[in-house]
Amino acid sequence: MGFDQYHEPVTELSDSVRTFARIIVSLTEEAEAINWYEQRISVEKNADARAIMQDSQEEEYKHFGMDLEFLLREKPVWKATLQRILFQSGPITELGKQGEQQGEQEEQRETKA
Ligand SMILES: [Fe+2]
Repeated sequence: MGFDQYHEPVTELSDSVRTFARIIVSLTEEAEAINWYEQRISVEKNADARAIMQDSQEEEYKHFGMDLEFLLREKPVWKATLQRILFQSGPITELGKQGEQQGEQEEQRETKA
């Protein structure tokens, strides 16, 4: 991967911003791994090999979830937005609008604090 995650001079970035960058890159790598396993599983004809890849893919779900949880703990506005979208039922675009509103409310609360 190298240092492509930095879009500003690394020496100007705080430790917490560098950690955030590392975890968000990890999140994208976990998502890529989930995608790769999805495709491999769909074409694999050997049941044992497919089971191993399914087990591996489930590990990536966990890694993705832990990365996302870390990021959301760092970003309350993001967390507030996603609380209205994730693990809900109903039209996703409607949940997105509600999430945006909740994120804006959290941002206002942060601004006042
Ligand atoms: Fe992983």
